[in-house]
Amino acid sequence: MSECDALFVLKVLCCLLLTCHAVDGRKMRGHPADVAVLGDKTVPVKAKEPHISSSVFRLLVAREDTCTLEPPQLHGLSSCGFNATNPLIIITHGWSMDGMMENWVIRLASVLKTHLRDVNVVITDWLSLAHQHYPKAAHSTRLVGKDIAHLLSSLKEHYDYSFQKVHLIGYSLGAHISGFAGSHFKGRDQIGRITGLDPAGPLFEGMSPTDRLSPDDAEFVDAVHTFTHERLGLSVGIKQAVAHYDFYPNGGDFQPGCHLHNIYEHVSQYGLLGFGQTVKCAHERSVHLFIDSVLNEDRPIRAYRCSDNRAFNKGVCLDCRRNRCNTLGYNIKKVRTGKRNKRLYLQTRSRMPYKLYHYQLRIQFEQPMQSTTPSLSISLTGTKEESGAIPLAFTEQVLGNKMYTFLITMDKHLGDLMLLKFHWEGSALWKDVWNRVQTIMTWGGRDTKPLLTVNKISVKDGDTQERTSFCAMTNDERHVEMSKVKVFVRCQQEPGMKHKKRTHT
Ligand SMILES: *[C@@H]1O[C@H](CO)[C@@H](O)[C@H](O)[C@H]1NC(C)=O
Repeated sequence: MSECDALFVLKVLCCLLLTCHAVDGRKMRGHPADVAVLGDKTVPVKAKEPHISSSVFRLLVAREDTCTLEPPQLHGLSSCGFNATNPLIIITHGWSMDGMMENWVIRLASVLKTHLRDVNVVITDWLSLAHQHYPKAAHSTRLVGKDIAHLLSSLKEHYDYSFQKVHLIGYSLGAHISGFAGSHFKGRDQIGRITGLDPAGPLFEGMSPTDRLSPDDAEFVDAVHTFTHERLGLSVGIKQAVAHYDFYPNGGDFQPGCHLHNIYEHVSQYGLLGFGQTVKCAHERSVHLFIDSVLNEDRPIRAYRCSDNRAFNKGVCLDCRRNRCNTLGYNIKKVRTGKRNKRLYLQTRSRMPYKLYHYQLRIQFEQPMQSTTPSLSISLTGTKEESGAIPLAFTEQVLGNKMYTFLITMDKHLGDLMLLKFHWEGSALWKDVWNRVQTIMTWGGRDTKPLLTVNKISVKDGDTQERTSFCAMTNDERHVEMSKVKVFVRCQQEPGMKHKKRTHT
């Protein structure tokens, strides 16, 4: 990227961040005739009406070879190898800073082609319009959507091609393009699916459903939000839910391994090169998560419905009943039930395979003594793997009878859970407190050591939805002592039956 480009994009960004919030796309210079028609996006598209496409469509032939389709006559469609019995996936890129097709486009296309085999994969090339000021590129999205709609209409006309078999995958601005394309078809003619990969935020956030990707645009719409970190009221990826299922990996605002905290330093230090790299990382993560879902379909990436990411990280949302969980990516369960805009959360690794296995730990203590915030850690042993020490961060004072829930993530599945070890880190401070407490009161006159008593403890496996309760071998083993490891095993019977209330006699 030249310095001049960098300056240019910086200017665009400044404009976006400071002044362009309220830009009405229609005021932009450009295609007044188109705009008049495009203002109403429900205008049906007829294949016959003369349409000059500003986009180029390329059908993937072999691994990385493409063959250009030329609507409206679609010359070369069959000779390119288009097979009308097979489904069609159209991949649409986003805003372009350098006018080049980004590497992920051909990668996603060839992964889909290689793994799904009986599928037509088409790439929308709208670089000539995408390589503009962001607001101008954003304004072109309706036009490009219309190009895609025309391509689809031509397919219907030539092959009686069913829109059911169409899946549009759009990244960033491409997500909204896909939405605009889909909005041309209603009712029984609705297209099958749209996937928005980190749909663009600026100029789309908060807009009405007809002015952005929305669940109305296809029979089934899913979206993956990976870079919604907000700065001055704007974020690169759209924050609001725009689909039937909206996935927010790692909360959606930034992604592990992307070092977001450096982004603004990067810009001032390295210019746009720094910005581009950092932005792309989290923004583009949505694409790589999707690629991962095709490459590793035997290990589906589960996400869980939750009110927000904070609640998710507390481990309260690992429930799959009534479609509360779903699979991120290509193999999503296409069920549409009840409320729209289901927000789903998950944590991921920083590299492919991104999947993390989620576990929910639930623990309840008996009221031991004075309330405290102990530094506890556990480790889990399953039939396949061991977890290693997992610290439990208590954010509040521990009280008896209250159920505490924690989210635990593992990059391997542990198998059937067999054993849970409990460790209470002895903190000097705490020992000191304890000693003082002990001198004040003596419990039943016994030489008591500091201890916490576990009443109930169980772990739920998010993937299998199985909950395992753990029991102490003996009643005394329930007392977790400072600086000692206590072992709990899988309960033989229902928990709660075995444990009677502890009495100090
Ligand atoms: C189209 O794909 C189907 C498999 O979905 C295959 O059976 C058929 O032979 C293909 N047609 C052509 C012309 O390649």
